[in-house]
Amino acid sequence: MIANLRTSSLRRPIQELPDALISQIAAGEVVERPASVVRELVDNALDAGAAQITLRLMAGGVRLIVVEDDGWGIPPTELPIALKRHATSKIRDLRELEAVSTLGFRGEALAAIHSIADCSIYSRAEGQDQAWQLDGHSGEIKPVARAKGTTVEVKELFFSTPARRKFLKSDATELAHCIESVRRHALARPDVGFAVWHEGKLIEQWRAHIGPDAQDQRLADVMGNDFMLDSVEVDFQGLLAPGASQAIRIWGRAGSPTASRARSDHQFFFVNGRYVRDKVLTHAARSAYQDVLHGLKQPAFALYLEIDPTRVDVNVHPTKIELRFRDSREVHQAVRHAVENALAVPRSQPVASVEPGMGAYPADHSTVDHSLAWRQSFMRLEDRPGHPVNDLASLWQPTGAQLLAEPASPWTSRKSEDPAGQGASDTQAWPLGRAVAQLKGIYILSENEQGLVIVDMHAAHERIVYERLKTQLDGQGLSSQPLLIPATFAATPQEVATAEAHQDTLRQLGLELTPFSPKTLAVRAVPATLAQGDAVELARSVLVELAQHEASQVIEQAHNQLLATMACHGAVRANRRLTLEEMNALLREMEQTERSDQCNHGRPTWRQVSLKDLDALFMRGR
Ligand SMILES: Nc1ncnc2c1ncn2[C@@H]1O[C@H](COP(=O)(O)OP(=O)(O)O)[C@@H](O)[C@H]1O
Ligand SMILES: [Mg+2]
Repeated sequence: MIANLRTSSLRRPIQELPDALISQIAAGEVVERPASVVRELVDNALDAGAAQITLRLMAGGVRLIVVEDDGWGIPPTELPIALKRHATSKIRDLRELEAVSTLGFRGEALAAIHSIADCSIYSRAEGQDQAWQLDGHSGEIKPVARAKGTTVEVKELFFSTPARRKFLKSDATELAHCIESVRRHALARPDVGFAVWHEGKLIEQWRAHIGPDAQDQRLADVMGNDFMLDSVEVDFQGLLAPGASQAIRIWGRAGSPTASRARSDHQFFFVNGRYVRDKVLTHAARSAYQDVLHGLKQPAFALYLEIDPTRVDVNVHPTKIELRFRDSREVHQAVRHAVENALAVPRSQPVASVEPGMGAYPADHSTVDHSLAWRQSFMRLEDRPGHPVNDLASLWQPTGAQLLAEPASPWTSRKSEDPAGQGASDTQAWPLGRAVAQLKGIYILSENEQGLVIVDMHAAHERIVYERLKTQLDGQGLSSQPLLIPATFAATPQEVATAEAHQDTLRQLGLELTPFSPKTLAVRAVPATLAQGDAVELARSVLVELAQHEASQVIEQAHNQLLATMACHGAVRANRRLTLEEMNALLREMEQTERSDQCNHGRPTWRQVSLKDLDALFMRGR
C-alpha cells in the first residue's frame, strides 16, 4: 500500500510549511495532554514572579484550563507577540541560554498551545491602570477589568487535531495528571500559594509559606505528615570535584526504608527549582537505599539540587523535564552520599552524639576548606576519626583472652556497664531506653521517655553484625579467630572443590577452611565477630554462596550478599534467653550503629509505642 503510494505519486516541489502547521507539529512535542498545558502555564506564572496561582479546570482540563496569576503581567503591545513562535522575554543570546535560570526560555509554549486550542490572554502589566484581553482566535485586543497579573484561558484542547484528542484518557485520569503537575510546582516553590478548582469545586490548595520552615511545611502539605515523621533530613554541601570551583548543594528529605512504597510516585528531584526526571539522579538515590531497602520497594523522597546553571543543560527536550549534567559522575556521587549519610544515622541515636558535620557541611562556606570538605564528605563515616562506630568497633574486637574467658554471650566483650542499675534518669539519655523484659524469645521490651520500645532482637543484631563485617571488609578484611579445636564436617565433592578454589576469598572473610580428608573439611578459623556462631553452618552457607561465583570476582559481586549470609549466622537466634545486661548492651549498640533502624531485608528493627498509644488502648484520658 505505502510503497504504491510512493511510486505512483509524482514528485512534488519543496515548499515551506505554513506557520500554523509548523506550530502544530512543534506542539506535538510540547503538549501531550492537558497536564502539559498546566505545566507550561504555571511555569510562565512563576517566571513572572507570581505569589498566588489559581487553576480552574473543566473535564480534566480537556474542555477548559484557566491559569490565573498575580505576576508582573504583559503590556498590551507585547500581547500579540507572546503567541508567536520563538518569542520570549527570557533570553536574548547564546550566553543567556547557557546560564538560563528561568523555567521557560524556548518561547514556544504559548504558540504551541495557541495552535491546537482556543486561547485567550488577559493581562494587566505592573504599573498599568488598565487590563487587556487578547483573543487568540481573532487577534483582537480590547480593554477588560482585571487586577495586576495574567490569566491564560485554554479551551477545547486538540479540537483542531482530533487524532491527538483520541489519545486522551478519561477526564479523571487527565485531572490526576494535571494535579500531579501542580504538585511538582508546589514542592518546588513553597513561597507561592496554589489553588486548583475542578468543575467549580476547590480540590487542592497549598497556602504560601514564608520563613525558615517553609520548605518543610510545604513538604508536609504535599507529601503528608506521615512522610515527614518517617523521613530524614538531607543537607549536603560540597564541591563537584576536589579543588574544583563548582559547588553543589543537595537538601530535602529522604523517606526511611519503612516508608517505602510499591510505586515510585513519591520520588521528586528538583534541579535549580525545576522538577526533572533524570536517570543519573534516580540511580544515585536508589543506590543510596540499596543497603537498607530490598526487593522491589520504592523509596519516597524529595531532593533539591542547587548547582551552577552553566554546568547543566536544560535544553535537551522541549518539555524541559530532562536535563544533562556536565559532571554527571560527580553529581551521582554527591547525591548518593548525601542520601546515604542521611539514612545511615539511626533515628535512635542520642542527639548529643550526632556529629554536627555528619552528612552535611556548615552553611558558612568561608570557614571551610573546600577541597578538604569535599574529600571528607566522600569518606565513609566509619573511617572518620572519632566516629562512634570506630570506638565501639575497638570495644567489640574481643581479645583472645576475653574470648576464652567469656565465650557465652555475644555482648559480654563490650566495656562493662550496668545500665539496668543506673536508675530511671537513663531512660531519658538513651533513645532506645532501658530493657525491662524479653518476650517469647523474640522481642526485647524496653522503657524509654516516650513509653515502650519493642525490638526484634534477631533482626537488630543481624544488622549490627552486618555493619561491623562491612566495615572490617572495607578495611583490612575480617579479622580471624582460630578455633582451639578445628570443626570438621562431611563435605560434598563440590564443597571441597569450592573451598579450594576460593581460598583467598575465604581468607579475606576471616575463614580458614582446609581439606581434612577427601570427604571432610575442617574449619580452623572463623571471623572473630562471628566466633559465637556455629562454625560448620557458617562455612557451609558461605560455600553455597561462593559456588555461584567466579573465584576472582566474588568479593566485588557478592560482597553484600555474602556478608548478609554471614551476619545471619552471627546474629543471636530467636528463643535465646538474654539477660537484662545483654539486652541493654544490644540496645546501646543499636543506637551507635548506622542503618540500625532496619534489618538487612529492609524491615524495621524496632518500634516505639508511646504512652499516648497505650492510653488510647486503655481509653485512658490524660
Ligand atoms: N503568566 C505570564 N505572565 C507574564 N508574562 C507571561 C506569562 N505567560 C507568558 N508570558 C510572556 O510570554 C512569553 C512567551 O511565553 P512562552 O511561550 O511560554 O515562552 P517562554 O516561557 O519560553 O518564554 C514569555 O517569555 C513571557 O514574557
Ligand atoms: Mg513558558
